[in-house]
Amino acid sequence: MEFDKIVEGVQGLRWLTADQGRILYNLVMDEQIQDILELGFCHGVSTAYLAGALDQKGKPGKITTIDKPESKLLSPNIDTLLGKLGLAHRVQPIYADHCYTWELLKLLERKPRPRFDLIFIDGAHVWKTDALAFFLCDKMLSENGYIIFDDLSWTITRDADPNDRQWSLKYSEEERLTPHIRRVFDLLVKEHPRYGHFREESGFGSARKIGKDQVNFLKESTKVKPVLVTKEMMEKMMRSQK
Ligand SMILES: C[S@@+](CC[C@H](N)C(=O)[O-])C[C@H]1O[C@@H](n2cnc3c(N)ncnc32)[C@H](O)[C@@H]1O
Repeated sequence: MEFDKIVEGVQGLRWLTADQGRILYNLVMDEQIQDILELGFCHGVSTAYLAGALDQKGKPGKITTIDKPESKLLSPNIDTLLGKLGLAHRVQPIYADHCYTWELLKLLERKPRPRFDLIFIDGAHVWKTDALAFFLCDKMLSENGYIIFDDLSWTITRDADPNDRQWSLKYSEEERLTPHIRRVFDLLVKEHPRYGHFREESGFGSARKIGKDQVNFLKESTKVKPVLVTKEMMEKMMRSQK
């Protein structure tokens, strides 16, 4: 499906912007991405960009996406939105009674274990859930696959839904003011030996899983310090080589 048609079809729905939609759409179009896992779909706007790109490529590919049962009550809900766009056949929604981390356990136990080429995390935005989600997702992310987190700077105080804040009262003030996804990205993803190619764009933090035998040049290069070679040092080196 063409990008502009998706923009038109999701108009007025939260949460993803068209610029962010373009990033997801182009990534799926340009890279070898077939199987996608998404955590947090809400109305299904991000799902629509991902599914639209898969469809436009005209190759096999599906999205497994997880949210809470309450999302069925939204208007439109994911089934209505994707049905209207003709993209429902590309998407398998899963409803997690409690939390997607439990559904990830069930995916990990499936035989054969599913593999995903792209994992998009845009759900709870809190450390205790998404730190665990990262490690669970990592076990299902293909070599050279992409992981993208939305809302690097999201905080409970600034960004949690003002009509649904009861849950946040159990968090300390420090936790309410800290961007949890930023910490997941900086401390867990960037420090992980199997991840590189880090990018930050439009609130997204993305990374690529590198092969076991590949040297992580990106990380190595940050360790190399520039060495200042003075004229005297050069002359000394030349003399020693004579
Ligand atoms: C920001 S919205 C997702 C928006 C969607 N990715 C988009 O861009 O169109 C976050 C969603 O995550 C879901 N969510 C939050 N915590 C969750 C959890 N622990 N388990 C399952 N879903 C969760 C919420 O119900 C909500 O619909």
